[in-house]
Amino acid sequence: VRTGVWLVGARGSVAVSSLVGALAVRASLAEPVGCVTELPALRSPAVPGLSDLTFGGHDVAVLRLVKKAEALAAGGVLPPPIVGLVAAELAEVESALRPAPTGRTQAEAAHRTIADLTEFRHDHRLDEVVVVNVSSTEPAAVAHGAHADLAALQAALETTETVLPASSLYAYAAFSAGCGYVEFTPSTGPRLPALAQLAEQAGVTYAGCDGKTGETLLKSVLAPMFAMRNLRVQSWSGINLLGGGDGANLVQPGSNAAKVASKQRLLQEVLGYQPEGNTRIDYVPDIGDLKTAWDLVTFSGFLGTRMRLEFTWHGCDSALAAPLVLDLARLTAAAHAAGARGPIPELGFFFKDPLGPGPHALADQWTRLCDLVAGWGAADALGA
Ligand SMILES: NC(=O)c1ccc[n+]([C@@H]2O[C@H](COP(=O)([O-])OP(=O)(O)OC[C@H]3O[C@@H](n4cnc5c(N)ncnc54)[C@H](O)[C@@H]3O)[C@@H](O)[C@H]2O)c1
Repeated sequence: VRTGVWLVGARGSVAVSSLVGALAVRASLAEPVGCVTELPALRSPAVPGLSDLTFGGHDVAVLRLVKKAEALAAGGVLPPPIVGLVAAELAEVESALRPAPTGRTQAEAAHRTIADLTEFRHDHRLDEVVVVNVSSTEPAAVAHGAHADLAALQAALETTETVLPASSLYAYAAFSAGCGYVEFTPSTGPRLPALAQLAEQAGVTYAGCDGKTGETLLKSVLAPMFAMRNLRVQSWSGINLLGGGDGANLVQPGSNAAKVASKQRLLQEVLGYQPEGNTRIDYVPDIGDLKTAWDLVTFSGFLGTRMRLEFTWHGCDSALAAPLVLDLARLTAAAHAAGARGPIPELGFFFKDPLGPGPHALADQWTRLCDLVAGWGAADALGA
């Protein structure tokens, strides 16, 4: 299945790490470490291979992909020799990138986005196209009456009012162009009733929200442990320090609030109660993409005995996110080809704030994901 991956925010750290990684792995310059679709349990002929992927995308920035990749290499995110070896192919991807569409009305901007996606599908003779949002996190969206109903939304988009946040306008355009959509950020994206109606009508699939790559990934493993041992978590507080474009953007109060909300939701879901504590995100330009998370968990056991757990996570955010972007594009395309429509809750494994009903504990999410892929046929048994 020839699959197009359209990256919104294509010149950002996560997008460029995904591009360099995909090009390097398919040229056998690197192993697919971090790509869960390469594990035996998820290997299936229904999932398009890395060589079946063609890339394009939108960005508001103009920095060339090769320059961004070199900057990531200088920052210790990508290996410099690999960036050099894929430079020619990166330049080819460059020709499929388009400036982020604008218009007098949001309907006009959406039409331009749809035209870009349609041209991409046609030029590369693609069977499936998945739009993946890896652009800057937006402040939480302001509710609007037109979000509830598709006809009202379409009418409102024709006015000069800003009705949808950019992420939702991309989801609107993706669905209208018959493409799948992955919301890798905490932005609103497809999470509006009017867009659910549109996806249903267009017969497309979508997944989200907010890639789970660091502190929340650990929470989704450790919180179920406390729950299963019937230990009472009294407080869970975390401080995240990060630089890079994401860090700079998350310093803005609106974007910061969207991200923090998406990080805390899991505890209530897994434990059944909300312990004290909060998550903070601070911007430290010098550390770039090499993020640090410190968490302190206080808990009580038998007869109320007080105990604590502390952990420190030093993750390279883009290196952790990039393989998941590729996994999600491949799985969303496969789900659509297998007949899925609407949200794909089985992809909750990848997200901090999964769409639809489903478990929040990583092990349960993993089982669900394996079952989904096994349903498409020919996946090896877990661990085979
Ligand atoms: N790295 C991780 O582990 C991780 C995990 C979960 C979510 N995310 C999210 O992924 C996103 C990308 O992270 P990053 O580190 O690559 O950030 P980044 O700042 O390096 O890249 C974001 C890119 O989006 C572009 N952009 C902004 N507005 C746009 C618009 N309207 N249309 C098109 N492009 C636009 C910017 O120009 C920039 O190139 C962030 O929202 C981040 O919160 C990252």
